Amino acid sequence: MGGESYKIWGAVLVAMTVALAIGIVINEATHAEHPEIKAYLVEVPDGENQQVAAAPATPAIEPIAPLMAAADAAAGKKAFKRCATCHSFEKGGSNKVGPNLFNVVGGNKGAASGFAYSDALSAMGGDWSYADLNAFLLKPKDFLPGTRMNFAGVKKAQDRANIIAFLRQYADAPFPLPPQ
Ligand code: HEC
Repeated sequence: MGGESYKIWGAVLVAMTVALAIGIVINEATHAEHPEIKAYLVEVPDGENQQVAAAPATPAIEPIAPLMAAADAAAGKKAFKRCATCHSFEKGGSNKVGPNLFNVVGGNKGAASGFAYSDALSAMGGDWSYADLNAFLLKPKDFLPGTRMNFAGVKKAQDRANIIAFLRQYADAPFPLPPQ
């Protein structure tokens, strides 16, 4: 063992250092890729999040037909109290802030005589089907933008069905229940 072996060990040490350095560079390069991968991955859930965020704006309205079959008109009479400040429902009842609602279920929209409906409701036309009443009573201003009915809506689907079942009795001939 002389000066030669130190040279060899020296060479080995240099080689190891270089290998280490290369390893670090490769490692760095691999790490450097991560931000790109993350940036890409973030975009995907972002898209999903937007869908999730958009969902509440257009919620599917629970179908009214099965709820009408189970509706309770007596409970609807109680629930109608929040409507009664603005609406009468008996035949010949007077218009208040809102129109009289006799014959409204299945009847023509905007038909109460002597009531000044909004342009939006007058222009809508057609009959008050169960589905339309369900959507209107959930969120009046979503179903009929420009309506003069200043009322936030009835959140619970069964409450809406109960109210409709109660109103349905106040008609010359109660509108047939929706097919199941
Ligand atoms: C703050 C007063 C107010 C309350 C409370 C209110 N409404 Fe109304 N409602 C109105 C007005 C005003 C109109 C007329 C809307 C228009 O012309 O756009 C109306 C219209 C309606 C119509 C359409 C009538 C037609 O002739 O076409 C129905 C059905 C109705 N309301 C049901 C209800 C029910 C059921 C409730 C309770 C859950 C309720 N409203 C609560 C004021 C009210």
